[in-house]
Amino acid sequence: MSNLQPSGPDAFSRAGELLRQGGIVAFPTETVYGLGADARDDGAVGRIYAAKGRPSFNPLIVHVPNLGTARTYVAFNPLAERLAAAFWPGALTLVLPLKAGSVISPLVTAGLGTLAVRVPDHPVAQAVLSAFGGPVAAPSANPSGRVSPTTAAHVVQGLGDAVDLIVDGGPCGVGLESTIVDCTGTPELLRAGGVPLHALEACIDAPLAQRTHADVPTSPGQLQSHYAPWGTIRLNVEVPRPDEVYLGFGPMEADLNLSPSGDLIEAAARLFACLHELDAKGVERIAVAPVPMIGLGVAINDRLRRAAAPRDL
Ligand code: TXA
Ligand code: MG
Repeated sequence: MSNLQPSGPDAFSRAGELLRQGGIVAFPTETVYGLGADARDDGAVGRIYAAKGRPSFNPLIVHVPNLGTARTYVAFNPLAERLAAAFWPGALTLVLPLKAGSVISPLVTAGLGTLAVRVPDHPVAQAVLSAFGGPVAAPSANPSGRVSPTTAAHVVQGLGDAVDLIVDGGPCGVGLESTIVDCTGTPELLRAGGVPLHALEACIDAPLAQRTHADVPTSPGQLQSHYAPWGTIRLNVEVPRPDEVYLGFGPMEADLNLSPSGDLIEAAARLFACLHELDAKGVERIAVAPVPMIGLGVAINDRLRRAAAPRDL
């Protein structure tokens, strides 16, 4: 049987069965496709790391169906409660203290005393969680250090047979990974993402601290070179060189455009698909038009900077 299956009741029960048996299953969330395994099963979680070629110090996000289930694994505080109430289900991941006696595999937390949890807002992700009935550890379903997948075809290209099942639920709506906030103390932004900073700050009614590079990278999503396509990338380019393929933003002449109308939500949703497309064409030099640093533009620029960083992974 093919490991690619359209979303639907058959795919959901197969996903649930495979997860119970310690298999690894790729499925869509509203942000990007995730590669899921039973978060309580060391062997299954180990298979995620092996399939992605991921350094084992990099911890994983656990996906749960709702806030009540999240409470069984981590200890909430009032600000975390407020963020969860406002943005779950959705593109926000909260890092919180792991509860004592937790059943979560230490491979998921990479030995940290904290756990990253998220309630996804996608009917297919929710159907897979409900068919399985347990916590699902799921990083993005791409080889480590490569561009995240926003379609099932991207997962097939990147991981192929290394995955037991890929549930095809169409393209992801948000297109960027979740925003990660460390709520173990004063809330701190660990990764810009699908929920923009200003929305979080409005919710907690205070500026959100941002961990600087000088600090310990407790969120290895802060590894510099990440999301790398094969070509070299120059950013904030107004006029591309003749040998460059130009990735535009807003009304302009370009080979490919993140959003011809200059809409940041559309640009976020298309960013990884555009990078995958340039990758697939074997483009060697990419120039990217400036993208404003407002709203989702912060996360888009973060991913572009990582894609452009020197390769060391
Ligand atoms: O949108 C998303 O977040 C997607 C979908 C599939 O949910 N997942 C995703 O996972 O982007 P991944 O593994 O590619 O990124 C997870 C990030 C990593 O940067 C990791 O270091 C960080 O979360 N992380 C996980 N657990 C953590 C913890 N306990 N403390 C700090 N950072 C943590
Ligand atoms: Mg990732």
